[in-house]
Amino acid sequence: MERTLSIIKPDGVTRGLIGDVIRRFEKNGLNIIAMKMIHMDKTQAEGFYAVHLGKPFFDSLTDFMSSGPAVVMILEGDDAIAKNRELMGATNYKDAAPGTIRADHATDIEKNVVHGSDAPETAAFEIGYFFNSFEIIRR
Ligand code: CMP
Repeated sequence: MERTLSIIKPDGVTRGLIGDVIRRFEKNGLNIIAMKMIHMDKTQAEGFYAVHLGKPFFDSLTDFMSSGPAVVMILEGDDAIAKNRELMGATNYKDAAPGTIRADHATDIEKNVVHGSDAPETAAFEIGYFFNSFEIIRR
């Protein structure tokens, strides 16, 4: 069993894609063990994406991520990190495999609907960034 952090980004929430994204997780063996809707401020978005500090897209990305509500979730399942990344598709929607969330819905390399942790260490940091132990369901 593995855990990963998923975010439905502000573009996904605004465009009414919460249900579609969650349906894909539920149908593919990713159990939601924590979930909430948040609206990050700029500083919180900068803290979350600190690994990208200095990149040319950092300022625009953190503006976007603090522009509206987002849904944050912990997904649990076998190979949850890889499975979530498979369901999301490539960061750049133009490279995303057909049928993935980003191929179906993303409009831009930045406004790509979802975020998912890319490794166990980042998953641990990202889960801890948004959730405390009382907010995580034990199955
Ligand atoms: P995400 O998986 O959340 O990780 C970093 C985010 O930065 C990425 O999705 C995109 O929303 C955004 N981004 C914008 N431009 C780029 C880029 N050139 N390369 C990678 N990520 C980018």
